[in-house]
Amino acid sequence: MGRMQFPLRMQAVQTPVIPVVAELIRNSPGTISLGQGVVGYPPPQSAFDEIQAFLQDPENHKYRPVQGIPVLVDALTAKLRSENGINVGDGNTVVVTAGGNMAFMNAILAMTDPGDEIILQTPYYFNHEMAVTMAGCLPVLVDTDGQFQLQPTRIEAAITQRTRAVVTISPNNPSGAVYPESALREVNRICRERGLYHIHDEAYEYFVYGGARHFSPASIPGSARHTVSLFSLSKAYGFASWRIGYMVAPKGMFESIRKIQDTILICPPVISQFAAVGALKTGTAYCREKIADIARVREVVLSELKKAGSICRVPETQGAFYFLVQIDTRLTPMKLTERLIEEHRVAVIPGDTFGLEKGCFLRLGYGALDCETAREAMRRFVSGLKEICK
Ligand SMILES: Cc1ncc(COP(=O)(O)O)c(C=O)c1O
Repeated sequence: MGRMQFPLRMQAVQTPVIPVVAELIRNSPGTISLGQGVVGYPPPQSAFDEIQAFLQDPENHKYRPVQGIPVLVDALTAKLRSENGINVGDGNTVVVTAGGNMAFMNAILAMTDPGDEIILQTPYYFNHEMAVTMAGCLPVLVDTDGQFQLQPTRIEAAITQRTRAVVTISPNNPSGAVYPESALREVNRICRERGLYHIHDEAYEYFVYGGARHFSPASIPGSARHTVSLFSLSKAYGFASWRIGYMVAPKGMFESIRKIQDTILICPPVISQFAAVGALKTGTAYCREKIADIARVREVVLSELKKAGSICRVPETQGAFYFLVQIDTRLTPMKLTERLIEEHRVAVIPGDTFGLEKGCFLRLGYGALDCETAREAMRRFVSGLKEICK
């Protein structure tokens, strides 16, 4: 009976904190949320226009190919070549998924046995840690440095007989860090030499600021057989609820991925795939214009954060739409988050949900705010910190 009520596998998986914060926000009307991991803009009009083409063919109401409709796979293949320098060919393959999270789960299930180890960087993206645990594998956590950058020597030291993959995310959720090409090449080389997969999540590929540049490790010659790249339209094209992502995976993994996706999904929602084809027709000019607005919001957030002085350490990362700040307080991140919401009407995400156990970290997300709202949110945040942490 005990086992029936409490299966061990799911007990081991952390409870996502986002719904907990959402509940606190609901109970404090007027709260401005820096908690969200989404952009504020919708998909381009061309995404909606393509739905007419979906409706014109009754075949579209039936199941379609597990790996995605050919017209979308072709459009993604062209995009990967021209934007990412990734040649889809002999060694690898593209699979459309219902979002980047599903692409990650596909990869983990396809490459592991229960008990295997997956190296994640802390702070990690919590759904990655949850997926690894759900698959019966062990997340092995390697710290990033004070600026949330990769530490390849430590990654190498964490490899054991049971390691199957090293996971990197750039631009990073939750830290906003953008990993330089050299560091990603180093990790990719370690994986190749040690017979491991390099899983690289590029959901925020366009979200880079200042001098930062995005780099796709799957563009490295000879990387196709050990590199898995994860992409998403959720952030770039305002597509979060449409559930379209895709992965580039070694060809040898394709049969397994097909089994997994056939069982869990059968095929990614076809209407959303048509919308994705439409979005790609407009292309990155759309994303870049929107991201220029987000860059202005980022400047507002940074300049307001400076007013917090020494209470708040701010690694000035250059990507995604997050800052992960460290607060000089003895309060737990959750307690501080509660008080910021209840007493100051501003919501953030506590850092322990990203595996940061030492110190009080908070994630601020600014992707869905306009400059004025962001300024007000940051005023509340800074004055709240000064009052709570004095
Ligand atoms: C790093 C990272 N990967 C993947 C995802 C999930 O994206 P999708 O909506 O495509 O599943 C997110 C969403 O926050 C993310 O931050």
